[in-house]
Amino acid sequence: MSKNTQKKPHSRAAWSGRFAEPVDERVQAYTASVRFDKRLAEHDVRGSLAHARMLAACAVISRRDLAAIESGMRTILAELRSGRFKWSLEAEDVHLNIERRLTALAGDAGKRLHTARSRNDQVATDVRLWLRDAIDAISSLLVALQTSLLDLAERHAGTVMPGFTHLQVAQPVTFGHHLMAYFEMFARDRERLADCRKRVNRLPLGAAALAGTSYPIDREMVARELGFDGVCANSLDAVSDRDFAIEFCAAAALIMTHVSRLSEELVLWMSPRYAFIRLPDRYCTGSSIMPQKKNPDVPELARGKSGRVAGHLMGLLMLMKAQPLAYNKDNQEDKEPLFDSVDTLADTLAIFAAMVAGIEVDAAAMRAAAAEGHATATDLADYLVKKGLPFRDAHEAVARAVRAADQRGCDLAALGLAELRQFSPLVGADVFKILSLEGSLASRDHAGGTAPRRVRAAVKRARKDLK
Ligand code: ARG
Repeated sequence: MSKNTQKKPHSRAAWSGRFAEPVDERVQAYTASVRFDKRLAEHDVRGSLAHARMLAACAVISRRDLAAIESGMRTILAELRSGRFKWSLEAEDVHLNIERRLTALAGDAGKRLHTARSRNDQVATDVRLWLRDAIDAISSLLVALQTSLLDLAERHAGTVMPGFTHLQVAQPVTFGHHLMAYFEMFARDRERLADCRKRVNRLPLGAAALAGTSYPIDREMVARELGFDGVCANSLDAVSDRDFAIEFCAAAALIMTHVSRLSEELVLWMSPRYAFIRLPDRYCTGSSIMPQKKNPDVPELARGKSGRVAGHLMGLLMLMKAQPLAYNKDNQEDKEPLFDSVDTLADTLAIFAAMVAGIEVDAAAMRAAAAEGHATATDLADYLVKKGLPFRDAHEAVARAVRAADQRGCDLAALGLAELRQFSPLVGADVFKILSLEGSLASRDHAGGTAPRRVRAAVKRARKDLK
């Protein structure tokens, strides 16, 4: 034994064989990932069991070794679930922690588990298995939020509110129609997740460190056992790319962007200047100094957290962009952003599903706001066009009528017939039907329009699609 190897007893790392001294303590803490990747533990066990079964089926390990591995893993799972599993920083990451415990329980069989495998294909498998579950959970939460939106939209299919462009009153819409816009956004978000899931759901195991393995393995068998749709076709790609996680974060960032837009509206609608809605007290907080305050903290925080998730997308793109093939330790940094994106999304969606269900609407305030901004001016122009006036001339005539109404301090719809006729002799007594808020709504009667009967139909169709 050389002098150098005598120092070895301090260093127990699984790969310590070729090292002359134990790793620096700070480096150990710096390079270890167990603090956060222990979250992958159950998926790691699942992946290992599938791998071991395949090794036994291919006669790479014995049936007896497999039995010892399976029994050891049962104990480990029980320890993980009861919180009794002892994690050690020294064992670096989730994979080596579990392998070390397995070896303590199963002896040499535990040491044989890592045959025809590397932590590189192992971690890529674990993350994919974990992310697949996360995608399924988030899709269900999206459905819950969509259901809350649908219920509210159904109740308010005929509740008039001002529709805005540039945050200026534009045309009347129904509150149900407005909510259904968010339903559509979240429907596309679910499509994106489902599409991303297809590329997540491929098996890296078998790629080993980077070049594949010389053992007679059966990757398809492992893929089937783990519920993957197929195997990653190239070993170098399988262990190195994290595009599936990046794609997920892009979908997550978009979901949070949609949540953020909704949040901004909730904040505005709750402001006394709008007073369109009230959020239940349990979703609001007070001020420590101003006794009258009831603040929409939840939507504000969600708006803020959308920045954090978009940041994780950027982080992962930067993590990946200059990595040469194949695996590099950089990839260990994929986990925290990914985990935090999933956690943030799951918390946000669960709270929003419940909060949206509790929204109380002040229909009178919405109607009053819609009756204020000459919201039916376009309807008057369209009316004149239908009576033969070219649209540009109609636009001009109505613009003058709006100015007159402004001067009188009233809404366009409040002008009398004689007054309206001053701007165009084409105006008849039937004009008031279209100048009213209800008339305007009812006239937008086509697929995708805001007519209450169309909104009800959209809700009905959406409910069917959700099932
Ligand atoms: N903890 C590592 C990670 O998260 C596992 C793979 C380690 N592979 C290696 N060659 N050092 O990526």
